[in-house]
Amino acid sequence: MSHQYWRLRATCPPAASRYILAATIIFALQTAFVVAGKEEARCRAVRTTMVRAADEALGYYTMSHPTGALQAASRDDVRKRALGAVHNVTLALADVNEHGGFERCLPEAGSDRTAAQISYALLDMLLRGRPKARERLRTLEPFGTGVPDLFSDSLSWSELVHSGWPVFRLAAVIESESRSPLTTPLLGMRLDVQDASEGCPYNHEEVGHLMVLVAGEGITARINDVRDFLRNNFEGEQTTETRFLLDILYAQPASSSCQAVLAVVYAALADALQCHWKRPRSRATHIFADAVLDRAQKFAAIAFTGEGAEARSGFTWGAGPLKDATPMATFFSSRWPVLSFLARLEPRRLPKQQPLGGQEAEWPAVVSWSTREEELGGMNWAERFAAEVFGDLPGIELVADLECADIYVYRSKRPVNFGGVLIFVDGEKDPGDSEQDELLEKYPASIVVGPQPASGNTALHFAVPYAALSFAGRQHHSPDLLSAPWRARDSTARAMANGGLAVHPAPERRFAAYLAFKCWPHRERFFSLLSDAARSRGLTGVDTLSRCGDSDASEGDRRQDRYSQNYMDDAVALFSHYKFALVFENHMSPRYVTEKIANAYLAGAVPIFWGSPFVLQVFDPRSFIRVNSFDNFEAAAKHVVDVALDPVAYKAYLQAPVLRAEGNASWYFSWHRDMSAPDGRPSLREQLAEAALEKHRAGIGGVMPAIERRPWYYAELFR
Ligand SMILES: *[C@@H]1O[C@H](CO)[C@@H](O)[C@H](O)[C@H]1NC(C)=O
Ligand SMILES: *[C@@H]1O[C@H](CO)[C@@H](O)[C@H](O)[C@H]1NC(C)=O
Repeated sequence: MSHQYWRLRATCPPAASRYILAATIIFALQTAFVVAGKEEARCRAVRTTMVRAADEALGYYTMSHPTGALQAASRDDVRKRALGAVHNVTLALADVNEHGGFERCLPEAGSDRTAAQISYALLDMLLRGRPKARERLRTLEPFGTGVPDLFSDSLSWSELVHSGWPVFRLAAVIESESRSPLTTPLLGMRLDVQDASEGCPYNHEEVGHLMVLVAGEGITARINDVRDFLRNNFEGEQTTETRFLLDILYAQPASSSCQAVLAVVYAALADALQCHWKRPRSRATHIFADAVLDRAQKFAAIAFTGEGAEARSGFTWGAGPLKDATPMATFFSSRWPVLSFLARLEPRRLPKQQPLGGQEAEWPAVVSWSTREEELGGMNWAERFAAEVFGDLPGIELVADLECADIYVYRSKRPVNFGGVLIFVDGEKDPGDSEQDELLEKYPASIVVGPQPASGNTALHFAVPYAALSFAGRQHHSPDLLSAPWRARDSTARAMANGGLAVHPAPERRFAAYLAFKCWPHRERFFSLLSDAARSRGLTGVDTLSRCGDSDASEGDRRQDRYSQNYMDDAVALFSHYKFALVFENHMSPRYVTEKIANAYLAGAVPIFWGSPFVLQVFDPRSFIRVNSFDNFEAAAKHVVDVALDPVAYKAYLQAPVLRAEGNASWYFSWHRDMSAPDGRPSLREQLAEAALEKHRAGIGGVMPAIERRPWYYAELFR
């Protein structure tokens, strides 16, 4: 076995920082020129260009980070102007120096003059470029004759640098910057080669080349190339891969002068390991990803806090790193891309670092969802759904917000560059309506749970109406309440309407309620017909509980109850004061039976339904009034009023079972644990979990086409 060494190289800090330094110095220098206010034309010219440069530089500086990473927006413009302005200063200074020297333009004596002289020496050093600056640094008076004379003999440069005076800190930075070669070895990576005579395998060679990050001086670091390489090549034989990954992981910083760059390198690797695997991740991959991430965070911490910076060889004069005790979390919330990137990658769950070589099966399949799926009232339907379907299953772990999970439950918050099994759970809108169709159609590891399948035959489809799925978003009800007698539903709903306090004696329920947020004409027409029919026979009209129905009533009149929970729980509480509830679907489409009819049942009100005939496969026709089964709306409205005036008929509706006994009715709800499938058949949750795990095991996920781009290119960080 022989060892092979690679070096990652990068200029650090990147070239941009030279201009930031120059601009900062000009900013300091201009003060002296302004204070002196010499009216000689050349002095005035220098002053004007400096004021302009300081202005531009300030703009540039506020868009940049001390490490030289710039915010992307309009960076190029600002940068060009800043560089132009600095250039103009150098021209004006050269001109004045040719005609008697710049010191003529300074105040005659005092601290402003001294500061200006030092600043000028620094600027001169910086603008000369590295080779000249380095040459100068070899002399005893690196910042020019005269400058040390300004101070007492007893002060060494080192002491000055430690004085905390900004200009000396700048001096230290410039020295370090000037001494470092154009490219600095960044990371040493040892690669163990089994047979030295055979050399490196091809892919190792190639990554070796790729990992030469030539940054600054016009050439950009290509970390994204590294990532792409990893993505495309690590599919070979497991042991080679593992060995190779270990080499990357335990690579030693060859020069630690730019921790931020190392942080980015590791972040890119972590990204490659976590999300871009073309096959199911192995346990080893998990461990690597987390370990690499850990390194990325450590380097970021060192770069920004100076914590643990002993290894930092940095400044000859010992200008120490800043000693902010800022915790990592603060950086994560900062705008700087690499840090927020790291925050995104940060594992919520840090796996125990088990020794490599254990059994693959020990690693659980991770099921995740976004906490941003949360709905009004703080209810996260996806969390509930995942817990009901996958909770407590052996070999499964539930973790929120893990973008690189094995199985991901979503409706609108889909993960980025995902490679696992994707479960789309319909929320009334089918894949086509919710703009998920294109993705689900193409992605082989997708499963759709909802009324409509995705286009094509790629995604597995479980046909389930939203009436059943809506229970994932309800705070107070589980679907088994639908199987309970009316009395139980009635008291649950009224307890809820009373804020969970004691159940009051049943108030007289009013006639009927109409609650809708889109005033479709068919609903509006039935509302008027029913209101008129009821009034003409001595009942009150239909109460409007929302913006639809009665355009005369104010919002306040229509809605006395507060918005207490989410809209579904709210609807149940509101309906609990009524005998009937109008629950018309928005439109007619296959299996389109939504949460509305369930709201009425849960409130103990008789639903007046209009919509897909599929409703008959879910709900018992004796328990609701189906408007579509009448010849016309008038006949249906008359029937409702008849029932309202006939206590026996009304009671028959209340006492009828809600769910249809035959067929699959309870199966639709059996994604929830409280509901089992009929006739001892497998429940929906069992079928769904099995299907997802089978896809996971088969590894037919693959890499999802980047549906959302990363918000930046790593390369951008170095421009
Ligand atoms: C630099 O000087 C030129 C000529 O005076 C002027 O046109 C230009 O606007 C200046 N550039 C900046 C960025 O100040
Ligand atoms: C009931 O569900 C099973 C799957 O469990 C399905 O094969 C069958 O077609 C369904 N029957 C009806 C009437 O929808």
